[in-house]
Amino acid sequence: MPVTEEAKRLFLSHLDAFKKITGDAYVLTDEESLHHYAHDETENLLFLPDIVIKPRSVEEISEIMKICNQYRIPVTPRGAGTGLSGGALPHKGGVLISFERMNSILHIDERNLQVITEPGVITEVLQMAVREKGLFYPPDPSSRGSCFIGGNIAENSGGPKAVKYGVVKDYVLNLEVVLADGSIIWTGANVLKNSTGYNLTQLMVGSEGTLGLVTKIVLKLLPHPKHDLLMLVPFNDLEKAGAAVSAIFRAGFTPSALELVEIDALKIVSRFVDSTVVPVSDEMAAHLIIEVDGNHPETLMAEMEAIAALLADFDCGEIFFADDAQQKAELWKLRRRVAEAVKLNGYTIEEDTVVPRAELPALIHGVKALGLEYDFKVVCYGHAGDGNLHIRIKKEGSIYSLNNPAVIPALKALFALVKSLGGTISGEHGIGLIQKEYMDIVYTNAGLEVMRGIKRAFDPNNILNAGKIFDLEK
Ligand code: LAC
Ligand code: ZN
Repeated sequence: MPVTEEAKRLFLSHLDAFKKITGDAYVLTDEESLHHYAHDETENLLFLPDIVIKPRSVEEISEIMKICNQYRIPVTPRGAGTGLSGGALPHKGGVLISFERMNSILHIDERNLQVITEPGVITEVLQMAVREKGLFYPPDPSSRGSCFIGGNIAENSGGPKAVKYGVVKDYVLNLEVVLADGSIIWTGANVLKNSTGYNLTQLMVGSEGTLGLVTKIVLKLLPHPKHDLLMLVPFNDLEKAGAAVSAIFRAGFTPSALELVEIDALKIVSRFVDSTVVPVSDEMAAHLIIEVDGNHPETLMAEMEAIAALLADFDCGEIFFADDAQQKAELWKLRRRVAEAVKLNGYTIEEDTVVPRAELPALIHGVKALGLEYDFKVVCYGHAGDGNLHIRIKKEGSIYSLNNPAVIPALKALFALVKSLGGTISGEHGIGLIQKEYMDIVYTNAGLEVMRGIKRAFDPNNILNAGKIFDLEK
């Protein structure tokens, strides 16, 4: 809340103006609402906005932005608040724009295999809606049951299927965007190829709400594959599990998912979801979850058998084949809930490192060494097929990484390792608030200056999610 009389008067006049745009019910300033929108899933961080607005249309957002731009009011866009890098945290206060009421799927275009949607649709709801027409939208972050498609665009999310089908950017054809000054643009066209000027669509994808507010999304779809097979493979050694991953691709296979879960994470999540279907043994160090999909069951069976045979060279144990839909669902539930389970277990800090796939064993080896050196517990899981490893850290007395002297040197060492292996610091969660400190490990100042220049061009007053990804002033 503002302190001076003049600031209070201005604040109240803005509130009135916002209420005229959306209706009184959708402009909130009560403590409970402000608290609800003060956090996402990032560590245990909390920042209160001053005002929460829940618009219903692009026109309303455009009018809101005109006011915010004129009065330099910080604006934080927010999807479902499932983000893991603090992108939706209103750390500068101001206005938080929640997309929860913009939740309609506008058109499933079966002729062209496309869908046009608003950003507040839950990703899994969108997937099920197109599935009913035999169509497939593959990107499937673990939070797909609650995250919004708009947030997925903002972070360029991935998920297990990315290893075969690619990430969000590979499906976005066109976006309607409200710019910082309230103008409304479309970034491209609803076509599969486009060489018409700069690629504003892809610039928006992964820009974490710093360049504009996405209000409509056109996505490419695929025909849904008819069959899939799933297995869980235990390994005696974590690094060998990592080495097996690249061997699978080198042997000519492209699984539709290839996930790794270290044993401590699997044990924690098994207890968390009270699962008995999946065998979890203390003797093993890690598991790979491997899925293949396609339209011909015999081909899939042959592929699975060939992959299983190949894994014997990497010291694997007895393979568990998920036989039916229920076992498959149970195994996926275990995988999808790892992050939540280990966080509740004290592993609050999550990294999203990604290296070229064959460097995975070196990354795992280095991470364990850093854990000993910096005295933190570490547990690994994630999208091994993409070289994208989530590294969760438990450091006694530290529940967050932001400005934390006990954690920052360890993270710097981790990211230097990742960089030395040819990788980078985020594969799918974004930089947001908590990783910007480390951007200069992977970019030179010249590279960061290009990004700052783009930010200034789109948002000269620096009101849109300011201070996310990088600071404008060094
Ligand atoms: C996962 C999320 C944390 O892979 O990205 O579970
Ligand atoms: Zn992930």
